[in-house]
Amino acid sequence: MDWFNIVECLRETVLSVASNVGAFQGFKDPEIRLAEERFGDLQVNGVISFAKKAGMNPKILAEKLTDAFIRSDHQRYFAVEVSGPGFINFRMTSNFFINWISNNSDANKIQATASNLFKGKKIVIDYSSPNTAKQMHVGHLRSMIIGESIQRMFKFCGADVVRDNHIGDWGTQFGILLAEIKIGKINLSNLPSEEVLDLLEAIYRNGNEKAKNDSSFLERARNELVKLQAGDKENLAIWEQINRVSYQAFDDIYREMNVEFDYVLGESFYRDKVDRVYGELEESGIAEHNDGALVVFHREHERFRKQPFIIRKSDGASNYATTDLATVLYRSETFDADELIYVTDGRQQDHFNQLFRTISKWFGHFDRKIPELRHVWFGTVLGENSKAIKTRSGEAIKLKQLLDEAKRRAYDVVSEKSPDLSEEEKRKVARAVGLGAVKYADLSQNRTHDYVFSWDKMLSFDGNTAPYLLYALARIYAIFRKIKNKAILNEAVMTQLTTKEEHFLCRKIVMFPVMLAQAIDDLRPHLLCNYLYELASEFSAFYNLNRVIDEDSEVFGRRMIICSRALDILKIGLELLGLEPLEKM
Ligand code: ARG
Repeated sequence: MDWFNIVECLRETVLSVASNVGAFQGFKDPEIRLAEERFGDLQVNGVISFAKKAGMNPKILAEKLTDAFIRSDHQRYFAVEVSGPGFINFRMTSNFFINWISNNSDANKIQATASNLFKGKKIVIDYSSPNTAKQMHVGHLRSMIIGESIQRMFKFCGADVVRDNHIGDWGTQFGILLAEIKIGKINLSNLPSEEVLDLLEAIYRNGNEKAKNDSSFLERARNELVKLQAGDKENLAIWEQINRVSYQAFDDIYREMNVEFDYVLGESFYRDKVDRVYGELEESGIAEHNDGALVVFHREHERFRKQPFIIRKSDGASNYATTDLATVLYRSETFDADELIYVTDGRQQDHFNQLFRTISKWFGHFDRKIPELRHVWFGTVLGENSKAIKTRSGEAIKLKQLLDEAKRRAYDVVSEKSPDLSEEEKRKVARAVGLGAVKYADLSQNRTHDYVFSWDKMLSFDGNTAPYLLYALARIYAIFRKIKNKAILNEAVMTQLTTKEEHFLCRKIVMFPVMLAQAIDDLRPHLLCNYLYELASEFSAFYNLNRVIDEDSEVFGRRMIICSRALDILKIGLELLGLEPLEKM
């Protein structure tokens, strides 16, 4: 039996029981769902559709299966009951928990089993991917945080993950910047990096305004971009300088957020790879000329039939679409990727829709393996007034300042809550809590929704927050610290549960692989967050009502095992979200 993912485990069990019942010949899919709590833990729905197809009475058929189940050895692990027209409900028994918990005996074992899930699968994840010449602001949070968590989940489940930061260093912003810098003879060399970025943002804002009314300036900007893309020395030198400063600022943020990449192949990396894109798309007839530009129409789509995917502009410059096409080809050929995942905001849905359609036609035409392509998009971060979050003066909030504020606020909260910690400990905890709070506030929302950024909410110790979960974990660590005679822990064995709270906590614990699989399937980390919050709440109920350090050595041993499994899973879960678990706070 698969003592890991209980859905898989029950599938195997049901199929094995059914194979001994004549009426179930050809029964392949039990259709297992999580059940509503009042009905059971899991529900098998597939008997109804199977019976209908075979012209049998579903309820009678379901009863045949449950009779056979009850006569088998499996009844030790599940209590079973038919309900309604032929649904079968299963409830895990104490024996099931004993076996699951003994089989998944520590964090390493859990990790080892999980890593079979995506073994051999190569996945490239494109996330964070900011544009240069700008500081990161609050709008850059989500891609970084969500992407980081998703890549951690895939890695944990054994996938071969390539983390690629696709920096926007080749786009139209450079036309305007170069024109302004050259016209104004602006020298960037003698300024500290922070000021360079501030200055560049101001230059860009100015230039952008100018371009709206001044067609000769706009023309100049376009020209500068074409010159840059053609390798003009002067433009390249300015461009390099701008990028160098930008990369330094990005790296500071990544270090702070504990985000790392395997590759940082900016858009410019693909500049010598775009001719092949033009060539192949023209040759195959997928792209066509339209007003001087090279475009792809998708005739099968309502809007994209008329709204073209522009892959080369009429002035000859490449654009966002061109580099993305070249990037998919590169990732397919270089990494032999099975799947490509892009994490960006929801406004890019059309871009990726057109990109993916183009890829499938293009790769199809040349008989290339078409990787699975997924756009993981997200909503906007809102201020407490429910509008996109801004500073008081209406600018985007710089990420560096926001993270500093998170640590400062967390320090105050931690000092109040745990005055006895040393200064050094307080700082360490404040860092984990502050940055964790920012990450968790984002991850715990369904990503396709907007969410309101609220310091008070995210730093609260009540509710579905980072402080609550970090604290719950630290509390379990504290239980272990209290035990003087550690040898006793080695002798502990898992025995029959005696209380309702033990049962509910174990039930949550064994659900971990199911919830993790679901979060990965949907690429929605909030499903994991919700699960961890429920786990921590069950733990709290258990700990408040059940004596863990009991005189009865059997009870004591069993409860310590349960605590230790709750600890493992909470810790693994927090790490999968990119939070820093603490042993003490
Ligand atoms: N640089 C883009 C932006 O800031 C995001 C890039 C996402 N990745 C990609 N391959 N298109 O919106």
